[in-house]
Amino acid sequence: MNFASDNIVGASAPVLQALSSANAGAMAAYGGDEITKRVKARFTEIFEREVSVFFVTTGTAANALALSSAVPPYGLCVCHREAHIIDDECGAPEFFMHGAKLAGLPGVGAKLTAEGVSAYLESLPKAVKQMPPKALSISQVSECGLVYGLDELKALGQMCREHGLAFHMDGARFANALVSLGCTPAEMTWKQGVDILSFGGTKNGCLMAEAIVVFKPELAEALDYRAKRAGQIISKGRLISAQFEGYFADDHWCANARHANRLAKLLSDGLTQLPGVRLAWETQANEVFPIIPAAMDKALRNAGVLYHPWTELSLPEAEKVGPDEALIRLVVSFATREEDVHKVLDIARSVASRQAAE
Ligand SMILES: Cc1ncc(COP(=O)(O)O)c(C=O)c1O
Repeated sequence: MNFASDNIVGASAPVLQALSSANAGAMAAYGGDEITKRVKARFTEIFEREVSVFFVTTGTAANALALSSAVPPYGLCVCHREAHIIDDECGAPEFFMHGAKLAGLPGVGAKLTAEGVSAYLESLPKAVKQMPPKALSISQVSECGLVYGLDELKALGQMCREHGLAFHMDGARFANALVSLGCTPAEMTWKQGVDILSFGGTKNGCLMAEAIVVFKPELAEALDYRAKRAGQIISKGRLISAQFEGYFADDHWCANARHANRLAKLLSDGLTQLPGVRLAWETQANEVFPIIPAAMDKALRNAGVLYHPWTELSLPEAEKVGPDEALIRLVVSFATREEDVHKVLDIARSVASRQAAE
C-alpha cells in the first residue's frame, strides 16, 4: 500500500501502447517527426489557441526552463515558500535563470493571494540595488493539495499585469486540478492571464513526459536553445511526444485524474469520520493531508502503509499539530486500487475502535 506519491507507479497502458506504436520504423530526430507535430497541434486544440510547446523529461526541467525565459538574471521570481521550485529542485530554477532569485512568501495551504503578493511587491524598495520582481510562479495543485479557483487565478493574473510580472503555473498535477474545477484547460490558464505553463504528464500516466506550454509568444523565442543547452532536446523526441498521444486519446488523462481524485476523496471522507482525525487542508485533488493520532500513524506504518510526514508550515496557527498527533500526506495515483484505500481505512478504523475501548 504505497501512498508516498503519484510517481511511484509506472506508466499507464494507453501511454505504453502509444509508445510501442511510435517505436516502429525510422522518423526524423530531435522533434522533427510527424508524431511530435501532431501532438503539438493537439495542444493547440486542447488550449483553444495557438501555443508553443516544448517537450521535456522532468518537471524540474519544465519549471527551470520556463522560468529562465520569463525572468532575466537580475530579476526576482515570487513563489510560495513551500513551492516545489524553491524547495525540491536543488536550485535548478536559479541555475537556469543565471542569477535571478526566488522569493518565497507565506500563505495558508501553500497558496498565494493577489493581495498578499501585491503587498509584498509594494513593500520592495525600488532602487538599482534591489532585484526587480519579474515573475510569479504558482503550483496548481498547491503543495498542500489545494486547487486555485478561477476567481483566484484571475485575481493573480490581473495583479501580474498591473505589476508587469510574467505568470507561470507549475502544473505538475494539471489534470487533477482541471477535473477538480470542472473547467477547460483554457479557462484554467491563459484566460486568467497565465503566460507560461509546466504541463505535467508523468504523475498522471506518462512514463516521463512534461511539456512547457507558452501562451505569450515572446517567452517562446529562445526556449529551444535554452532546452538544448539543458540537454532537453531529445534526439528520439517522438518517444516523448508519443506519450502525450496516448495520454490525450479518449480523454484518458482526465479519466486518470478523476480516478485519483475520487479515491482521494474516499480516503479523506473515511479518515475524517474517525475520532481524532481532522484534515490539515481540504481534499480538493489527489492528495490527502490528515492530522491523525500518533497511535494511528504508528499502526499504519507497522502495517506497511507508505506515506510521508508533512510540514505544518502552511497551517493556520489555531490548527497546529499537537504532541500526540502526526500530519501526513497520502497521495493517490491513477493506478491506486480502491481495495488499497479500503485496507488503509480498515487499519485506521481498528486503531480508532481500540482507542475508544481503552
Ligand atoms: C509541484 C511539483 N512540481 C514539479 C514536480 C516535478 O518534479 P520532477 O522533476 O521530479 O519531475 C513535482 C514532483 O514532485 C511537484 O510536486
